[in-house]
Amino acid sequence: MATKNNTLKLKFDSARKYAPAPESKAAAKIDAKYDLFINGKFEKPLSKKYFATTNPANEEKLADVAEANAADVDKAVKAARNAYEKTWKKMPAKERAKYIYRIARVMQERARELAVIETLDGGKPIRESRDFDVPTAANHFFYYAGWADKLAYAFPNRNAHPLGVAGQIIPWNFPLLMAAWKIAPALATGNTVVLKPAETTPLTALKLAQIIQEADLPPGVVNIITGAGATGAAIVNHPDINKIAFTGSTDVGKIIQKAIAGTAKKATLELGGKAANIIFEDAPIDQAVEGVINGIFFNQGHVCCAGSRLYVQESVFKEVYRKLKDRLATLIVGDPLDKNTDIGAINSKQQLDTIHKYLKIGLKEGAEMYEAPCELPKKGFYCRPTIFTNVAQSSRIAQEEIFGPVLTIQTFRTDDEVLEKANNTPYGLSAGVWTDKGSKIFNMTTRLRAGVVWANTFNQFDPTSPFGGYKESGYGREGGLHGLNAYVNLV
Ligand code: NAI
Ligand code: MG
Repeated sequence: MATKNNTLKLKFDSARKYAPAPESKAAAKIDAKYDLFINGKFEKPLSKKYFATTNPANEEKLADVAEANAADVDKAVKAARNAYEKTWKKMPAKERAKYIYRIARVMQERARELAVIETLDGGKPIRESRDFDVPTAANHFFYYAGWADKLAYAFPNRNAHPLGVAGQIIPWNFPLLMAAWKIAPALATGNTVVLKPAETTPLTALKLAQIIQEADLPPGVVNIITGAGATGAAIVNHPDINKIAFTGSTDVGKIIQKAIAGTAKKATLELGGKAANIIFEDAPIDQAVEGVINGIFFNQGHVCCAGSRLYVQESVFKEVYRKLKDRLATLIVGDPLDKNTDIGAINSKQQLDTIHKYLKIGLKEGAEMYEAPCELPKKGFYCRPTIFTNVAQSSRIAQEEIFGPVLTIQTFRTDDEVLEKANNTPYGLSAGVWTDKGSKIFNMTTRLRAGVVWANTFNQFDPTSPFGGYKESGYGREGGLHGLNAYVNLV
């Protein structure tokens, strides 16, 4: 055991030996104060209220942003309605496409600035915002720009009509990417938008508002307003909204479902998850271990499709567990702006408290906890990557969404047993299967109740593939051809 700890310590020390490689903040121009983006202009809130957004890596304030009240929401919806009736729905589709392309191109030009701001405001490692969030967000605009004048091919023999004004409410885990997922298909199909980013991560959406201004999008086609839950609720309850697109917690998803019941509003809801990642004994173990690490510790576990439950076939459990622990010891937790950082800051004090609450619950339920042996920065919100073994299927840490860098591991013997366990949660967003056998992959993917199943990989995204869940993970699909469907009436 002593030798084992020494090996871990050595690995940890060597990981820490990388010299700091911080990305420069110079690219990030953040104003002291942001107003609401309504009808193509930044306007002071009627509420006269502002709130602060901070950097979770050091708890320093970044900017004040406006807090929209119901009157501000009404103003934004009126602007969107006016733009819809007078401009956007009448515009030839190929003209609409040009604007969407332009937004994509300006996003690419300003990619570095967007990545730095995403990391400052939300705490995710710069490597992720730079290599994943920002390019994938731009790709969504490119992809849906392409569809705008080809809807007749997307829906053969049908006429696709826009729905009208879309109210879009997004979370803090992929702020710019979620804005792109929601805005791009809405515009391509001729709808106008009122979007609200999450209260802890509003800055890249406000930068996107500036990009939209630069791209000369007709005023009112996209309105971006900031605020917390009450602002979101005012969007949901506004009578002149035709569609709600929401990504966030299952609890708020349920509130939204109740609020729109009996109205003509359409909705897509993308809610929580508790994905099973399944390793069979014939899997390429090293690759699988890397996939598991990527699946749950990627983005601090702030991912609705995170592979938070690992199921390992009994015969390879020891090997997998040892390799996972070895790999965990090399992960670098710390300054999100440092290019070496693997795990950045937890998005907020509130989220860190939630994660700590679950760690206590896990211990109380009798599971065994292993935390990576790394030091955490003194300021800011951080959490060590953590693994629980000896976990009961019914335990809360195996059933509830933790949304942090916390993995539970259970073992299994047969396909039927693991299917039963993997499907035994209220969620059904994603899953992963690791095996050398193609037939086993097909058997599992057809029987796992999850909207997305990855085989011998995890957390892969592409604008062309649809994404969404079953059960309490929500309904509707975003991305790909399916993502267009959510913004049209077919006649
Ligand atoms: P949340 O669901 O409260 O926040 C998501 C968005 O909804 C934010 O923009 C928020 O301002 C807005 N919102 C809050 N209350 C609303 C209401 N009544 N009506 C309309 N909009 C409302 O999520 P929160 O509290 O930040 O995180 C709690 C948990 O939710 C996390 O621990 C995690 O488990 C889960 N979550 C899941 C996400 C996903 O990607 N599926 C994203 C964020 C959180
Ligand atoms: Mg922030």
